Amino acid sequence: MHFSSDNASGVAPEIMAALARANEGPAWAYGRDAITGRLDALYSDLFERDVRVFPLATGTAANALILASLTPPWGAVFCEQMSHINVDEGGAPEFYSNGAKLIPVSGRHGRIDVAGLEGAFAALPRGDVHHVLPKVLSLTQATESGTVYSLEDVGVLCDRAHKEGLHVHMDGARFANAVAHLNCTPADVTWKAGVDALSFGATKNGAMAAEAAIFFDPSLAEQFEARRMRGGHLFSKMRFLSAQLEAYVTDDLWLRLAAHANGQAQGLVGIVEETAGVDLVHPVESDEIFVRFEDKAAISRLRDSDVSFVPWDPAAGVIRLVASFQTTDEEVRQFRAALHSAVGDQA
Ligand SMILES: Cc1ncc(COP(=O)(O)O)c(C=O)c1O
Repeated sequence: MHFSSDNASGVAPEIMAALARANEGPAWAYGRDAITGRLDALYSDLFERDVRVFPLATGTAANALILASLTPPWGAVFCEQMSHINVDEGGAPEFYSNGAKLIPVSGRHGRIDVAGLEGAFAALPRGDVHHVLPKVLSLTQATESGTVYSLEDVGVLCDRAHKEGLHVHMDGARFANAVAHLNCTPADVTWKAGVDALSFGATKNGAMAAEAAIFFDPSLAEQFEARRMRGGHLFSKMRFLSAQLEAYVTDDLWLRLAAHANGQAQGLVGIVEETAGVDLVHPVESDEIFVRFEDKAAISRLRDSDVSFVPWDPAAGVIRLVASFQTTDEEVRQFRAALHSAVGDQA
């Protein structure tokens, strides 16, 4: 029962097969290969407008390099307080942007709301040389709390940010899970709602290591290639990143994998809801589940019964479980018995 992370999963067979095909013979290096050459058109179809796509191997690089493209060093990036860019990227966004300032905005269940954003804007006075300039709003979709912004939420936040002269970045490390949950098109929840650039994740949902920086306004991408090179993220054998990104969206693979992960997460939700002594910290709208235990000792009993998870907030008795495209029905069934036995519920 491996619920520590969706990154604990392996590689989807369709993507492994695409890697094997890409391995047949030599190809031009540094993105001049045929597969990379097809990506802009493929993703433009997917997003229903002309986009620029840049393959990368990590989500941190996608976030940091996009943010650096959207703000000068003296700019501010507004983001949810627990967002990955704020707490989990070792200062990469600040480093790649040459010191732009991240301004954490309080959120509920991982989502920024307009009132919180207004408060953060108000706390940063304009027209005073002592302050950084507001430049970017970054939204995580799905959020780090396992929730999802609705289309309306994204639209309202983007409108407010654009009125303030900001660009909007979306951290989509779990974008597929969000789109599968919303049952919308990828265009609906990005540029149609006002998003300017997207970190499009694939690694957590079936790729070996592949993410893409996607720009909906090509003019914002003009310096991206130079940044990627200078930042050490230009892959010489780029065809292997591109082959993953191509297979990932072919025949809706990405959405099928994400729907499976989300569905297995709902299986875990059902088990938590029927069990006394545990409850859900956040609504579960993607593949991540945060569970609070009344009796903290039950957490170690759960670990002893061969369930892998992250002890998210030990003081509060909260753990994180993450389902993935590979989570089996059997794992979910076994989890029920393990949880019941850990909390002493023999039902
Ligand atoms: C929301 C979010 N954004 C970005 C990332 C970064 O991905 P990577 O670990 O590939 O740098 C993660 C990884 O956990 C994430 O959860």
